[in-house]
Amino acid sequence: MEKVLVLGSINIDFVSFVSRYPQPGETLISNDFGIFQGGKGANQAIALAKLDVPTLMLGKVGKDILSDFALSSLQESGVDITGISKSQKSSTGSASIWVNAQGQNSIVIYPGANGEVDENFIIQHEKFFDDASWLLTQFEIPLKSILLALKFAKKHGLKTLMDPAPVKKINNDDIWGFIDYLLPNEIELKELTNTDNVLKAIRILKSLGVKEVIVKLGKQGAGYEDKGNFNLFPAVPVEQVVDTTGAGDCFIAGFLYGMIQWGDIPRAIKIANLTASYSIQKKGAAISFPNKSEIDWKKLE
Ligand code: RIB
Repeated sequence: MEKVLVLGSINIDFVSFVSRYPQPGETLISNDFGIFQGGKGANQAIALAKLDVPTLMLGKVGKDILSDFALSSLQESGVDITGISKSQKSSTGSASIWVNAQGQNSIVIYPGANGEVDENFIIQHEKFFDDASWLLTQFEIPLKSILLALKFAKKHGLKTLMDPAPVKKINNDDIWGFIDYLLPNEIELKELTNTDNVLKAIRILKSLGVKEVIVKLGKQGAGYEDKGNFNLFPAVPVEQVVDTTGAGDCFIAGFLYGMIQWGDIPRAIKIANLTASYSIQKKGAAISFPNKSEIDWKKLE
C-alpha cells in the first residue's frame, strides 16, 4: 500500500470534561479528566496507522517525560517514528482542552517543540520523501516549513493533503498550487476566502491552484464541488456524541485511506464520515480512533 508522510504537531492533551464552559473569573469542577495523545499531526498519523496505512511521522517532541508518552503512543499504534527528533530546549507541545456536555471542545495550544520544526528540519529529513506517495500536513507547525515540505513533495512526486487548522491568514499565495486536496471545515473555509458561500469559497481556492477542496461540515457531514454543485455526504448518525476532539483528524485519515484504496472522492468522503463517527463516541483524540477491523464497513453501502 502507498506510504504516507505526516508532517505536523505532536501534543499531549490535558482534557477536562465539564457540564459547561466556565465564565471569566469562575472556578468550575470538572466531572472527569484525562491525559491523552493529541496534536493534529500525531492524531492523523495514528488514525492512518490504525487503518493499516504505512505511515511515517515527521515532527519534534520535547526534552521532557511527555515525549515518552507521545513516542510510545505513536509507535504502539504502528506509526514509524524514525522521522521524529527531540528538542534540546523546548517542552513537548501541549493542549489544554475543555469538553462540554454536548461533546464540543475548546482548545488552547502551547506549541513547544512543534515550533522548532523549521526549514532546516525539513531539509535534514528530505530523504523520507523518497519512498512515500503522499504528504499530509496541517497548520500547527511553522508555515515556512510547510511550504518547503510541499515543494519537496512535488519535487519527489508525492500527492499532497492539507488540513488548514488551526486556520491562519496566508500571505503567500504560492502555497495553494502545491496542494492537491485541501480539507477545511466551514469556519476555516470562510477565514481563508472571506466568504460564507461554500461554492464561491471552493472556486476561489481552486482559482488559486488547489486541485480539490473537501469541506467538513461537522454533524451535517462533508462534501465537495462536482460539476458546479456542492455534493454533500451526510454524517453517519451516532447514539451519543461524547467528545468531538480529533474527529476532524480521524475524518482526514479516513479520506486519505479511501483515496489510497479507491482513488474516488465520493467513496473517500463516505469512509471519512464513517471513521469519524467512531471517534466522537469515545473520550480523547487519538485513543478514540477505530482500528480497521473494528469498523462496520457494511454501513458504507
Ligand atoms: O484536532 C485535535 C487536536 O488539536 C488536539 O488533539 C490538540 O492537541 C490540538 O492539536
